[in-house]
Amino acid sequence: MIKIRIAMLLLVGVLIGAAIAWAAEQPTVVTMKNKQGEVFFHHEEHLVAVNDCTDCHHMGIEAGGCRGCHGVDREVPRLKHAFHRQCRNCHIKNGGPTECDTCHDVSKKTRAAK
Ligand code: HEC
Ligand code: HEC
Ligand code: HEC
Ligand code: HEC
Repeated sequence: MIKIRIAMLLLVGVLIGAAIAWAAEQPTVVTMKNKQGEVFFHHEEHLVAVNDCTDCHHMGIEAGGCRGCHGVDREVPRLKHAFHRQCRNCHIKNGGPTECDTCHDVSKKTRAAK
C-alpha cells in the first residue's frame, strides 16, 4: 500500500515537473490582433538576435506575458506604448524593421484581443 502511495506521489511529481517545464517553454510565434492590423511576432527567431529572456520580459519569465500587466493596471504604461517602446526602439538600434506595415498586417484589422 505504502509503495503504491510513494509511486503515486512520484508520478504526480513528474507530472508537475513536466507542466512547469512546459510553461517555461517559449512560443514559436505570437499573433497579436488589433485595430492597426495583426502583428505576427516570431518569438523563437528573435532569440537569435536577443539571447537574454529578460531583455524583453523585464519582470521575469514567471511574471507571464506583457498583457497581464500592461493594459490592465492603470499605473502601468499602456500596452501599445510598451510594445512600441520595446519593439521599435530595439529595431531602431539594431537594424530591425520600423515601418508600420513591417509589423502590422494592415489587411487584418480587428479589435484588440485584450
Ligand atoms: C524580443 C523580445 C522577447 C524575448 C527576447 C523573449 N520573449 Fe518571450 N515573449 C515576448 C512577447 C512580446 C510575448 C507575448 C506576450 C503577450 O502577448 O502578452 C512573449 C511571450 C512569452 C511566453 C508566453 C507568456 C504568456 O503567458 O502568454 C513565454 C512562456 C515566453 N515568452 C518565454 C520566453 C523565454 C523563456 C525567453 C528566453 C529564452 C523569452 N520569452 C524571450 C517577447 C520576448
Ligand atoms: C508584472 C507586470 C509586468 C509585466 C509582466 C511586464 N511589464 Fe512592462 N512594465 C511594468 C511596470 C510596472 C512598468 C513601469 C515601471 C518600470 O518602468 O519598470 C513597466 C514598464 C515597461 C516599459 C517602459 C515604458 C516606458 O515608457 O518607459 C516597457 C517598454 C515595457 N514595460 C514593456 C514590456 C513588455 C514588452 C513586456 C512583455 C514582454 C512587459 N513589459 C511585461 C510591468 C510589467
Ligand atoms: C531586443 C531587440 C528586439 C526587440 C525587443 C524586438 N525585436 Fe524584432 N527584430 C530585431 C532584430 C535585430 C531584427 C532583424 C533580424 C534580422 O533581420 O535577421 C528584428 C526583426 C523583426 C521583424 C522582421 C523579421 C520577422 O521576424 O518577421 C519583425 C516583424 C519584428 N522584428 C517584430 C517585432 C515585434 C512585434 C517586437 C515586439 C513585440 C519586436 N520585434 C521586438 C530585434 C528586436
Ligand atoms: C516593431 C513592430 C511595430 C511597428 C514598426 C509598429 N507597431 Fe504598432 N503595434 C505593435 C505591437 C506589437 C502592438 C500591440 C499589438 C497588440 O497588443 O495587439 C501595436 C499596436 C498598435 C496600435 C494599437 C491598436 C489597438 O487595437 O489598440 C496602433 C494604433 C498602432 N500599433 C499603430 C502603429 C503605427 C501607426 C505604426 C507606424 C508609425 C506602428 N504601429 C508601427 C508593433 C509595431
